[in-house]
Order: sequence, then structure tokens, then C-alpha cells
Amino acid sequence: MRYKLAPLYCRPWTLNGMSTRLIDSHYENNYGGALRRLNAITEQLERLDVATAPGYQLAALKRDELTALNSTLLHELYFASLGGDGREPPEAIQSAFARDFGSYQRWKDEFMAMGYALGGGSGWVLLTWVPRDGRLVNQLAAEHTQAAAGAVPVLALDMYEHAYHIDFGANARAYVDAFMRNIDWQSVQARLQDARATAAPRPLVQPEFGDLPGVGPEEVKAMLDAGQAVQVIDARPRHYFSRTSEIMDGAVWHDPERVSEWSGSLKKDEPVVVFCVWGFHVGCRMAATLRDQGYDARYMLGGHSAWKAIGGATKMHA
Ligand SMILES: [Fe+2]
Repeated sequence: MRYKLAPLYCRPWTLNGMSTRLIDSHYENNYGGALRRLNAITEQLERLDVATAPGYQLAALKRDELTALNSTLLHELYFASLGGDGREPPEAIQSAFARDFGSYQRWKDEFMAMGYALGGGSGWVLLTWVPRDGRLVNQLAAEHTQAAAGAVPVLALDMYEHAYHIDFGANARAYVDAFMRNIDWQSVQARLQDARATAAPRPLVQPEFGDLPGVGPEEVKAMLDAGQAVQVIDARPRHYFSRTSEIMDGAVWHDPERVSEWSGSLKKDEPVVVFCVWGFHVGCRMAATLRDQGYDARYMLGGHSAWKAIGGATKMHA
């Protein structure tokens, strides 16, 4: 199975301040070169007897394969990023920039500064959609790799010298400025729309607890920081609790095996957050029991471990 070449996406004669000679050379030598390397490496890998080949040989081929594959993908995105008038992006992108960067101008300043920073060096500046959080980030990708896992780049600025030296010599800044004047925002918007349809990584699901409401540790911390009235209960099993020395600051420990003895002491008009060690069955069962008794109880996602993982305060317990 061979990787197929993609035709040049932008129309080189329409570009503003970037010559057809530059685009030709870039497409034929660098993009074409990456694709040819990728196919040659793929062939070598297919021929390799992985049972007997030394590990370093396989590792080197795999590294080269990733570099060539990413170079191919990013060059295709680069040529698809060009061909517009570079003026203000459409409303949908403007509002995404406002939410994730503060403003279009702030996004632009950061993106261009990242390009300037790579002048005299090499790498890619990418505007990337992160499905996990449903947000945009600017990222640097050196060695044609280092792209954010599971994310979708929608705009690519090539900062390898071959991308500009024919027209701009060593003047990387002038090249970055010219790139900005040629961004095809309509195509970026279309790609962003596709990227937004990419599903986030699947969350943890505990079907045995149905739609039992959980609350993230960040939200619990915000409630406590704001001085909101909330009853936080550490319901880690006794044997676990007794062999650790710390407890979440602001939490009270109660033995989950003896819930009938302590649940009556809780206030019905104040929300309850209960958690166990990792947020699985103990904390969930406890929240379900308290809800059955009429309390506004939720379990804390990820339990005590998650509280520590966000850097939440803890104290020693007796
Ligand atoms: Fe390139």
C-alpha cells in the first residue's frame, strides 16, 4: 500500500508576495521528497523481518516513517492554508479566537511571534483544534513531529528555510508577514468545522451507577475557594484511610461501612460531595445511598487521587 500524492491545493499565481518559483520548488522537492521518502521507508518496513531485525534498525525506520508521514501531512496542510486574502477571519473563527486566546489580535500576535522565533531555526507553527477540551491552541512542531496527539491542525506555517529562502533570503520575518497576507480563512473555517466534529476521547463510564451525578475536583475546589456551603465527605474504606496519613483539606472522613450511623448528622439543605480513593464503586455507592435518603449528594470524579492530581490542599489526619 503506497501513499498517494495530493495535488497542489493553492493556486500559486494568485499568491501575494510569494513567487511561483518558491511554491514550485517547495512542492516538488520538499513535499514530493517527503512523500517519496515515506513510500521508500514503508517498502523497507514491509520487507523487514521484525522477528530477527535488531531493535535499533526497526526503531530508526519507525522514527523516519513518522517524520516523513508528518512532513507529508503538514505540507499538504501548508499549501491548503494559502491562497486567500489574509484579511479578517470569518465570524466563527473570530469567536473561537476570542474564547481561546482573548481576541483575534492576541492569537495573531502569538502565532506570528512563534514564526519569528523559528527564524534561523526550523519547525512548524500550527493552529490546532484539541477535541479533548474543544479548544484551539497554537503549537510548535519541530522535526516535522511533536504534533499534539489526537488533535487536528487547521492552519500550518512552514518555518523550514526551504519554505522562504528563494524569495526572502534569511528574512524570516518578512516571510511570516507574507504568509499572513495569504491565509485562506475560508478553507481554515471549513477545516475547523470538520475538526469540531471529531469526538473527544471517551470518558470513563460506570453504567452500574446510571445517571448518578458526579462533580469534577476542579469544581469542588472552586466551591470551597468561593466559601460555598458544601459538606465534603471522605468515604475511603477504613483499612485504606488508616494506612495513609493525609486527608483532603475541608473534608471529613466517615466510614463507608457505617453510613447509617453518620448520615443522620448531615444537613439536608446543604449539598454533599462524597468521594473514595479513585472515584469508583465506593464513592458512587455512597452518593447513591445518600441521595436515597434525600440528600443533595454527588460523588467526586476520580476521588481522593484526583483531588491530589489537581494539586488540591491536603492535611495530616490523626
Ligand atoms: Fe516545507
